[in-house]
Amino acid sequence: MQEIILQTPTMTGKIYVGEDAIKNRLPALLQGQKNFVLTDTNVYALYPDFFKEYFDGTEIFVLAAGEENKNFQSLQSILESMSKAGLLRTSRLFAVGGGVIGDIGGLAAALYMRGISCVQIPTTLLAQVDSSVGGKTAVDLGGVKNIVGAFYQPCEVLVNPAFLQTLPQREIKCGIGEIVKYAALNGEIFDALCKQDTLDEPQFLTSLIEKCIRHKAQVVQADEKESGERRSLNVGHTTGHAIELSTGLSHGEGVLYGMFMETQTAMEKGVCEKEYGEKLQQIVRKALALTPMSAPDFSGIAKDAEKAKSDKKNTGNNQITMSVAKAKGVWTTLSLPFEKYVQALENAVNSL
Ligand SMILES: NC(=O)c1ccc[n+]([C@@H]2O[C@H](COP(=O)([O-])OP(=O)(O)OC[C@H]3O[C@@H](n4cnc5c(N)ncnc54)[C@H](O)[C@@H]3O)[C@@H](O)[C@H]2O)c1
Repeated sequence: MQEIILQTPTMTGKIYVGEDAIKNRLPALLQGQKNFVLTDTNVYALYPDFFKEYFDGTEIFVLAAGEENKNFQSLQSILESMSKAGLLRTSRLFAVGGGVIGDIGGLAAALYMRGISCVQIPTTLLAQVDSSVGGKTAVDLGGVKNIVGAFYQPCEVLVNPAFLQTLPQREIKCGIGEIVKYAALNGEIFDALCKQDTLDEPQFLTSLIEKCIRHKAQVVQADEKESGERRSLNVGHTTGHAIELSTGLSHGEGVLYGMFMETQTAMEKGVCEKEYGEKLQQIVRKALALTPMSAPDFSGIAKDAEKAKSDKKNTGNNQITMSVAKAKGVWTTLSLPFEKYVQALENAVNSL
């Protein structure tokens, strides 16, 4: 089991990675107070023995699986249930699931009695390499993703790669979308992905989980509230979100296409080194090929790019600002007037 410390101005969080992380840490965390478990219907059905072994007698809230349930109504039900269970300030909330459970569970922990301890136990690849670390919590509101939330660091994150054995291939690909994001920021991860032909090979993925978490922890430590360095973690995401909306692709697939297009734009604008950018695009192609998919219909992208204007990272002056890869291990921001951004996207679609 590897230990990674994440120190922010407000707290010290610990992240444990390995098949023994849960066995070694969970019993001690459960001792001595009333606790609360949040999970979703799929995870609860897949892991009855796990819940029985560790959470027998603990209040368990099972949320219907799916992004559509990451909303205020669910948050209210969870908080009501926490209150009914008689949780105290010293209680802990254990969020066992993917990014949806981690995000809403983290927010419930931040709000209940103005903040109780939260332990994240991520069960998807996306949550293990990315969302369970860093303390961003949120729910969606009125069709806008993650618009209501808080920065609230978990006290511990327990990452057991064994959960990935039951994860559908499309969800694996979604997590690989985020791993490719780290490749765009970290030379070591970039080299590993360049060399590897089958990106979804389980041992290879396990070896990357810790590397991605270490990278994210370092970034979050330097800039918890996203005023500088943490913006790097949005590479591929500004355009990725627009693609998700216009094509109905998954988040990971949207990010992969977003990364391809933003890298293409950065190369054309002379911001990204061509040889490096092409290698990064090659990794994206390998990741996209992991599951069979027909060519997405990008005809609605110009219209949905409008949404990029209301992205939390933009300032509302008709400019689109993207975090883009510049060279191996180096990123920068690229701002374009909205019309030029749309034009760049349309060019990039043609070069896919
Ligand atoms: N907080 C952050 O920093 C951050 C970063 C990236 C994404 N996110 C958020 O994360 C969410 C996406 O996360 P996600 O992709 O994990 O989605 P998710 O939580 O919806 O999980 C995807 C699917 O996998 C199922 N699942 C979970 N674990 C499983 C397992 N071990 N075996 C089989 N099935 C399993 C879930 O029930 C669900 O159907 C989005 O809401 C996004 O906004 C947050």
